[in-house]
Amino acid sequence: MKISKTSSTRIHTTDFTNLKFGTVFSDHMLICKYKDGEWGEAEIRPYGPIDMTPGSQVLHYGQSVFEGMKAFKNSDDEVLIFRKEENFKRINKSAERLYIPKITENIFMDGLDKLISLDSDWCKNEDGYSLYIRPFIFASGECIKASASEEYTFIIITSPTTRYYAGDLNVVVEQHYSRAAKGGVGFAKAAGNYAASFYPTKMANARGFTQVVWTDSIEHKYIEEAGTMNVWVRIDDTLITPELSDSILGGITRDSIVTLAKDKGIIVQERKLSIDDVVEAHRNGRLIEAFGTGTAVTVSPIDSITVGEEKIELNHKSDSFASLLKKSLQGIQNGTLEDKFGWTSKVNEVVNI
Ligand code: COI
Repeated sequence: MKISKTSSTRIHTTDFTNLKFGTVFSDHMLICKYKDGEWGEAEIRPYGPIDMTPGSQVLHYGQSVFEGMKAFKNSDDEVLIFRKEENFKRINKSAERLYIPKITENIFMDGLDKLISLDSDWCKNEDGYSLYIRPFIFASGECIKASASEEYTFIIITSPTTRYYAGDLNVVVEQHYSRAAKGGVGFAKAAGNYAASFYPTKMANARGFTQVVWTDSIEHKYIEEAGTMNVWVRIDDTLITPELSDSILGGITRDSIVTLAKDKGIIVQERKLSIDDVVEAHRNGRLIEAFGTGTAVTVSPIDSITVGEEKIELNHKSDSFASLLKKSLQGIQNGTLEDKFGWTSKVNEVVNI
């Protein structure tokens, strides 16, 4: 792998006390191109603009998939990447659905290790900090015929981060627009899924809501996701999250929370969850809490859920399942708790770069 180091790091001019999610990038990136039926040699180079022509297929047809993952520093200043094997599997699952060639394990894992090692100073060893990692693949062939590209580009960029949402999380149940349909690409981390969510989200923002709760596209009856998160409700002492389907993204944080909750003896149900179930539980005083999970948001308690004219306000208690599970998850991620499921991997210090 070719590695060219930056001669002018931006780390000293970066304000780490005021990181707006996704706007600050570390010094380097990894780039690798696919042509003539194979991936070429990966390269690490200073973060910066890339060559693209106006005819690049991704610009016209949106053939692109991405991942979101995180790295944390432990108290020995070692970098731990969380569940990278799962992100590797998922990017290729998404790629397959978008007819994008799979990235090889070696390019993904070796590239990740070297890139994070090189920019490890961007991952702060302080409470609440992490390094958000964004691998993505897009169609870079020059052709505007509506067809799958013959050339692709794989890139990994990283971004130091603290929290995703500032302020309350007030969500509204969306009963007109849909995020994903049966047989569609909702389970994949396809760029277009997010593009299609922006208009309904902006409409909800204009009405004072932070995010929308997506419902199934047929009846708008069953909850699927909330914004960019998987969604959870606690009814009595049971934790419920919608069962996975081809219209729901299989969150790695979601999977981790299922495992952690079960490990703590909490009853977890992955099942169809209707809006009516939630409203009824609220009316009977049985809806105790709701929260969203995702790589970017970790575990975020929901303050209110609006269904039509009805606003369900939720209290945050210090002994909530959300805070209990968030502490366990973060403890494993930053190495302060035992990693009993083997979820973290240490980044090897790369010498002689
Ligand atoms: C993530 O949680 O990694 C996501 O994919 C959300 C992202 C769209 C910011």
